[in-house]
Amino acid sequence: MTPGPSEHGPAPTIWPLGFAVGIAVGLVGLIIDPEVIGSLGGVIAIVFGFMWARAATGDMRAHVPVVQAEVREATPAEIAAAPSAMEGEAAMPVTPAGQKMPRSRFLEGATLGLGGLIGAIVTVPVAGVALLPPFLRQKGHKVDLGPLSAFPEGKWFITTFIVNPSEGAVDRRTAFIRNNGTLNNVPSFTIISNRCSHLGCPTQANGPTGAILGQKNVTEHTANGKILLRPVVPAGFGCPCHGSQFDVEGNRTAGPAVRALDRYSFEIDNGHLVLLSTYSVSHVVGTGAQAKIYKYKLAGPGQHVDGPEQWFYPLQPPHH
Ligand code: FES
Repeated sequence: MTPGPSEHGPAPTIWPLGFAVGIAVGLVGLIIDPEVIGSLGGVIAIVFGFMWARAATGDMRAHVPVVQAEVREATPAEIAAAPSAMEGEAAMPVTPAGQKMPRSRFLEGATLGLGGLIGAIVTVPVAGVALLPPFLRQKGHKVDLGPLSAFPEGKWFITTFIVNPSEGAVDRRTAFIRNNGTLNNVPSFTIISNRCSHLGCPTQANGPTGAILGQKNVTEHTANGKILLRPVVPAGFGCPCHGSQFDVEGNRTAGPAVRALDRYSFEIDNGHLVLLSTYSVSHVVGTGAQAKIYKYKLAGPGQHVDGPEQWFYPLQPPHH
């Protein structure tokens, strides 16, 4: 008799499909929104994957039914033709009474489980060491740039500082800073990162500095070590690598950069100007304290932050 569909194996379930959907949502989420959509995809994949594995191994956990042997009288011809019990190979061992799982099933499951465990022991530490560090120890930083009196209103300074003194010179950064005075009695500063938004080269201020202006550099000593302030009168900022140009608000005016220059957020703490984290900017409308800044989460060099192009950039680990 031809076996029915159910005799070929377990009936199809939706778990593999749900698992695939979860993986797809997770991958799309890595591009669009890693925290929400990416996590959602991961949860869907884990839940459906678990249910899939559970359904696939149901037979191994199921109670093995006891099948009664068929009993009937043998005909005299069958008795005559039957070989002696002492002839031939030994039969397969019978599963002892009370043993729920045949030994072959147990060995199969144990082999798979042991293989999975060994794979996890080998893979997880390596993957952890390779992938986790960029996501850890990424606390926001604070950089004390000195008293507000070091930044006269309306003046620009090329300001060089070390974000984390324990990291040494490798953590040195430069920002273009202008005191805009106050807006609604709140101090306003324009603080532009010199990291080019094309590929990250250090942009330069286009204009005379220090000695040409007849002004001296100023050095402040704060909790973040030595802060160097170089007076400058910029007409804009330019990148020496591929020629991107930016106006004094950091808007791209020429070259291959894809957005405006990044900026630093800040706070005033005990009369000192304190830098906080950086953020990205698509463009700025207006100037100084009146400027309207279109700000975004910090993006990498060359990464669009608005428009359809923003969907084509992969996940980046958090950074400041
Ligand atoms: S890195 Fe600045 S223009 Fe390319």
